[in-house]
Amino acid sequence: MTKVTAQLSVSLDGFYAGPRHDGNGDWITSAESHGFYRVTRWATEAMAWRERQGITGGRRDVNSEIIAESFGAAGAYVMGRRMADGGEVPWGDEPPFRAPVFVVTHRPRERVVRQGGTSFTYVTDGVASAVAQARAAAGGKDVAVAGGGSLVRQVLRAGLLDELELHVAPVVLGTGMRLLDADLGLDEFEAIELTPTRVVPDPQVTHIRYAVTGRAPLTLDSRGR
Ligand SMILES: NC(=O)c1ccc[n+]([C@@H]2O[C@H](COP(=O)([O-])OP(=O)(O)OC[C@H]3O[C@@H](n4cnc5c(N)ncnc54)[C@H](OP(=O)(O)O)[C@@H]3O)[C@@H](O)[C@H]2O)c1
Repeated sequence: MTKVTAQLSVSLDGFYAGPRHDGNGDWITSAESHGFYRVTRWATEAMAWRERQGITGGRRDVNSEIIAESFGAAGAYVMGRRMADGGEVPWGDEPPFRAPVFVVTHRPRERVVRQGGTSFTYVTDGVASAVAQARAAAGGKDVAVAGGGSLVRQVLRAGLLDELELHVAPVVLGTGMRLLDADLGLDEFEAIELTPTRVVPDPQVTHIRYAVTGRAPLTLDSRGR
């Protein structure tokens, strides 16, 4: 059965990239890219990630197995326009997804078909529509919300996410773009509950997978009486 999953690499203090780069100049020299490169370093050193990018080498280790598992489980992807724009050049003619990708954006654009099974469809009527289109295209496999954080947060907020996997890098960035920020639509007496289903430790990164249980009221325990 198709699940909607998301995974993101984050620092110990919850940042998936450095502070947002909006100004002039190259993204690559910005603080945003420096934070992003640090929290995703574990992936770029893994053999399975490098194979998908057409790069040789890398380590065949538990991190590589987790990347291979994620690629294998996904039948379609959803991503934000900023991630899609940022990847367009580095992913090249044969992007690593090998599946349909639905890009959520306000900017209409013709569908782009690349080699190796990847296509990019630009969806302008919101996150729920993108997830529904990805579900229809996933052939019974999972819909993977690939990022960035804005997209993962919106899917979680909308109650559309079944599983969240955080790859927690052992680093404190202190500033940047935070995945679980105040924009989750929760009132002060409500929370989103999750159930850990797998924890895989590695010196470079800790992989924590959660099933998303859903919204629940915050209640007092016996100390409140
Ligand atoms: N740490 C990780 O694992 C990881 C993974 C992936 C990406 N990243 C990093 O994350 C950063 C990008 O993340 P981000 O959160 O800034 O951006 P994002 O989620 O990739 O894209 C956000 C953009 O998508 C469009 N969008 C989002 N929601 C929409 C909606 N409901 N309706 C219409 N359009 C919508 C908007 O673009 P428009 O309005 O302009 O169309 C918005 O500016 C990059 O630095 C990337 O490298 C990190």
